[in-house]
Amino acid sequence: MDFKINELSQYERYKFLSALVIPRPVAFVTTKNAEGKHNAAPFSFFNLFSEDPALVVLGFSHRPDGRSKDTINNIRASGQFVVNMIDKSIIGAMHIASADFLPEESEIDFAGIDLSPSQAVDVMRITESPVSLECKVFEIKDLTERRALVLGEVLAIHIKDEIFDPMTRRVIPENYSPIARLYGNEYAWLGKRYTKAIPTRDEIREKGLQAGDIPED
Ligand SMILES: Cc1cc2nc3c(=O)[nH]c(=O)nc-3n(C[C@H](O)[C@H](O)[C@H](O)COP(=O)(O)O)c2cc1C
Repeated sequence: MDFKINELSQYERYKFLSALVIPRPVAFVTTKNAEGKHNAAPFSFFNLFSEDPALVVLGFSHRPDGRSKDTINNIRASGQFVVNMIDKSIIGAMHIASADFLPEESEIDFAGIDLSPSQAVDVMRITESPVSLECKVFEIKDLTERRALVLGEVLAIHIKDEIFDPMTRRVIPENYSPIARLYGNEYAWLGKRYTKAIPTRDEIREKGLQAGDIPED
């Protein structure tokens, strides 16, 4: 089947594209409004973009009623946010926080999460998150009236001790399993890993490595 993007309604584009480009990590983003109240919401149009500058990217749409979301409003006003990664220790809280609360209600209270001070920004991080990336706005690009792209520069990183090896200064992969967003209401855990270094020309030319050779489990 072949499609031109213009043949698809907005709903179909969302349905196909979000189901095809998977898995996506989920950023549980904390922000603070002008009154000092914190907000937490999940965003899966999210990824790491580069390391120098250290940039993450977030994609925002408006609500169906046309209002912009609290997270982007707070980011525009304060220029700061924290991306909290989500693993088993906090996935239940993320699902609760994604419910449609009334403005006077706090998803943070309902989700039962705690906040801790950040190192480099004046927005708290989620204490239970395995990893928090403290960001300041690098650029906000308004793509249309209802869509915006936020580039955030990571100023500081918080990593839970149990997933960090101080000797190698590396993440311990067995201890870190962030969730993956699929589409609709579907999510996944990371599956089986495999190791394969970039092949050398020698491996391909002399040892006959071919595209059909699938890395072993
Ligand atoms: C797993 C998940 C991923 C989401 N990803 C996005 C996203 O990338 N962009 C977006 O605009 N909304 C996304 N949403 C919807 C927002 O989280 C939702 O609109 C939320 O209520 C916004 O809260 P806020 O008004 O406090 O910012 C996502 C929701 C869930 C549950």
